[in-house]
Amino acid sequence: MENRNLISITDLSAGEIDEMIKLADDIIADPEAYSEACRRKKLATLFFEPSTRTRLSFEAAMLDLGGNVLGFSSADSSSVSKGESVSDTIRVIGNYVDIIAMRHPKEGAPTVAAARSIVPIINAGDGGHFHPTQTLTDLLTISRKIGRLDNITIGLCGDLQFGRTVHSLIEAMLRYENVKFVLISPEELRVPSYIIDKIRDAGTEYKEVTKMEDVMGELDVLYMTRVQKERFFNEADYVRLKDTYILDAEKMQLAKDDMIVMHPLPRVNEIAVEVDSDPRACYFDQTLYGKYIRMALILTLLGIGRNGKKA
Ligand code: CP
Repeated sequence: MENRNLISITDLSAGEIDEMIKLADDIIADPEAYSEACRRKKLATLFFEPSTRTRLSFEAAMLDLGGNVLGFSSADSSSVSKGESVSDTIRVIGNYVDIIAMRHPKEGAPTVAAARSIVPIINAGDGGHFHPTQTLTDLLTISRKIGRLDNITIGLCGDLQFGRTVHSLIEAMLRYENVKFVLISPEELRVPSYIIDKIRDAGTEYKEVTKMEDVMGELDVLYMTRVQKERFFNEADYVRLKDTYILDAEKMQLAKDDMIVMHPLPRVNEIAVEVDSDPRACYFDQTLYGKYIRMALILTLLGIGRNGKKA
């Protein structure tokens, strides 16, 4: 791969994403073949912001490849709390490991890190900006559950303004033929205008709606998101908007029999627990696919093939 870092999903061509999905499919089919592929390699997970899935799936991915992991799960437990810059932190940790996955609350922090790093940097989420490895997870999930990434109507529902997973997924899906976006959000949490401009520039069909019931029957994929308390400046606005959309069994009756429900998780109230037993609910499978696609990403960025041989 020419670009050794993954900062935005647009760092990958559609062809490279397809190759990574194929590699993940291969790992799922025969995990044993990859169990020593990263022997003696080390991954650092530098999480300046909380995470459950992303950090632990990265660590599980490296361990399942026979490698090792080190890192921190909050800025408080690193020398950043003493005032050290991200640049210096990255420059130092590059001396200890082969690859770094980092999450940071500030948009652009992984770009700064990549400019300074001597090892590949993976953006594991930067503020309300991008979350490209969630997008790879989402694409693998759609590919495995629906069998294609083109000819899909995808509904994105909830906090579309601050939802970095939504922004990255839209950018990725713009590359595929005959994708239609149905953007379901309150007026205050609409997709930012720069993302709408990208949809328009690509000539992709989209519509913005406020009521999910009106569009449920059109969708192949319903991608639910959480209204993110941590991105609001005003608690009253969060309280007013947080329960705008709650997917429940009654609303699922309006959907196609083969629609899938996705969610990057964590969820709060936006999907009722009763939906978990619906065979169309994919969000827990999605978390497992997250580990496999991160295995494929680590192998790709390190230029490693099966059994640790150079690809
Ligand atoms: N989907 C996701 O990014 O989850 P975490 O915040 O738990 O990593």
